[in-house]
Amino acid sequence: MFPDSVLAPLRAARRVAVLTGAGISAESGIPTFRDALTGLWARFRPEDLATPEAFARDPALVWRWYRERRQRLRTVEPNPGHRALVALEGRVPELTLITQNVDGLHARAGSRGVVELHGNITRVRCFAEDTPVEEWPDTEAVPACPRCGGPLRPDVVWFGEMLPPAALERARAAAGGCDVFLSVGTSNLVEPAASLPWLASARGAPVLIVNPTADGQRAGPGIHPLLGKAGVVLPALLREAWPE
Ligand code: OAD
Repeated sequence: MFPDSVLAPLRAARRVAVLTGAGISAESGIPTFRDALTGLWARFRPEDLATPEAFARDPALVWRWYRERRQRLRTVEPNPGHRALVALEGRVPELTLITQNVDGLHARAGSRGVVELHGNITRVRCFAEDTPVEEWPDTEAVPACPRCGGPLRPDVVWFGEMLPPAALERARAAAGGCDVFLSVGTSNLVEPAASLPWLASARGAPVLIVNPTADGQRAGPGIHPLLGKAGVVLPALLREAWPE
């Protein structure tokens, strides 16, 4: 199923960088952002929900949307795509898993040291102090910071906000130093994550793109579209690269 131009570099790789997007969680039942049929944005305008201004304007609306997403997470499980990346961690000397997702499913699947570029909706932080809060009541009403009494917010990156500097630094170092870059389930539209694959290809590392469609994805030498769903392609890739 996979050419040697994909399997050989993967088998030989010492350092592999992986960037995942909403597509790897699609088979767990979590809508992606941009898929026309089921995408979250199809029903909401991001400006109304995922910005600091939206939260300041109507904290209860934003809190309710994120609470519903968190509650839905309790009903979903990691899928074979997440689990294949855990298996890949055991096959290469150094794997850095970078995710744009905020669902925490990689960690639940068993991946370690996940670089969460856009935060994690299972964590909260104080909106006023911008510091994490460990214990918080999962209430319908917006909970108050135990220190200052201000509203708590989901610990995610909203539109217009900076990414956590340490996470971005780790992601860029991994992309710039890897032998193979694997992009899984992302439309690769949102910066700065979208530039990570090209940091790898600029140094001659092959870029493997796992996605049911090649639409909108960069093509060229060293870029290998692996067309299909992550939950199918990734397990097959592991089986072919490292047959038992
Ligand atoms: P998108 O919804 O933009 O893209 C999802 C990608 O997954 C698309 O390219 C789909 O073709 C692909 N896809 C769908 N089902 C798949 C499957 N079963 N297996 C593999 N791929 C599949 O989601 P992201 O690229 O993650 O940012 O979006 C990036 C960022 O845009 C998000 O992190 C979010 C959003 O604005 C913030 O919230 C800051």
